[in-house]
Amino acid sequence: MLGTDGRSIDMAVSLLKSGETVAIPTETVYGLAAVASDENAVRKIFEAKGRPADNPLIVHISDLSMLEAIVSEIPPLAAECARLFWPGPLTMVMPKSDAIPYVTSGGLETVGIRFPSNELAREIISRCKAGLAAPSANLSGSPSPTCAQHVMKDMRGRIPAIVDGGSCSVGVESTVISFEDDGVRLLRPGGVSVEMLREAVGRVIIDKGVSHMLSPDAKAASPGMKYRHYSPDAEVFILRGTSERIAGYLEANSQEGDFALLFGIDAINCKAHMLDFGSTPEQQANRLFDLLRKCDELGAKRVFARCPETGGVGLAVYNRLLRAAAFRVIDV
Ligand code: TXA
Ligand code: MG
Repeated sequence: MLGTDGRSIDMAVSLLKSGETVAIPTETVYGLAAVASDENAVRKIFEAKGRPADNPLIVHISDLSMLEAIVSEIPPLAAECARLFWPGPLTMVMPKSDAIPYVTSGGLETVGIRFPSNELAREIISRCKAGLAAPSANLSGSPSPTCAQHVMKDMRGRIPAIVDGGSCSVGVESTVISFEDDGVRLLRPGGVSVEMLREAVGRVIIDKGVSHMLSPDAKAASPGMKYRHYSPDAEVFILRGTSERIAGYLEANSQEGDFALLFGIDAINCKAHMLDFGSTPEQQANRLFDLLRKCDELGAKRVFARCPETGGVGLAVYNRLLRAAAFRVIDV
């Protein structure tokens, strides 16, 4: 585990430059980084995570000037979004240049680019003088890591180093968008909300995969949509309804070993162990993955999570929770 002092950062940079992987903090979640143009280094990411080879990686930059070498074309709307939302939790899919190997792009002709706002991440990228490929630093399928301890739990013995930069401020992964003739397509909701994008670019199409289960033969707009995601060992269910109805459902149906994620802890007389999911979309985004991991640590069998509001970053919380719950929503 590395700290944030000069020697630790030197060590992280020299590992990355020599073709190794290093877990680094960002404002969204921790990423497992390697130099994006180094095929062997990138293969180590897929191996450490157990990630399917057709699921592309995002490339992280620390300066707009790095973009030119990585993409072959910058759509006008991408330039506008970069001006408004970078650095920050937005990933934009653009046509890739030859500098990005197919190992990194999961065989696609496009590449997702992100310019993080986290200072440590930017310092590490800029000292590597190269775009860094970095998926979330969890084992494939498990909840994304929002602190260094989460990374340690999943990656101990699998990667050479973790830079501990404390807890991530956003707590869910970046918004992913692609570009169409007259607007943008939302592939994954995140910290830059649909409302913010609509105000910036006008037309935003929300891809069907954001809130619906894709049929096995459907072609996913983003490969990550196909895979099981964010799943703790416990079985997760979403409870949709008023706080009174949810209280009634838990009183009638909960058993020992159940956990409930609620908006503040109400005095509910039930057998479930209640945890505070927070009362705003920002708090819920910040806590979701930590709470899912906590439920597993405490031996949860079933987790009942209150359905979040879907405005702002709430849509991202809902999207991740739907996947953690394998789309099981109970209307109470
Ligand atoms: O906030 C984040 O985005 C974090 C931090 C570390 O930056 N990274 C992250 O990466 O969440 P990952 O690999 O866990 O998720 C990237 C998602 C995947 O669902 C992937 O399928 C999609 O973005 N994606 C990446 N490149 C794409 C592309 N060229 N076309 C469509 N989808 C793409
Ligand atoms: Mg991920």
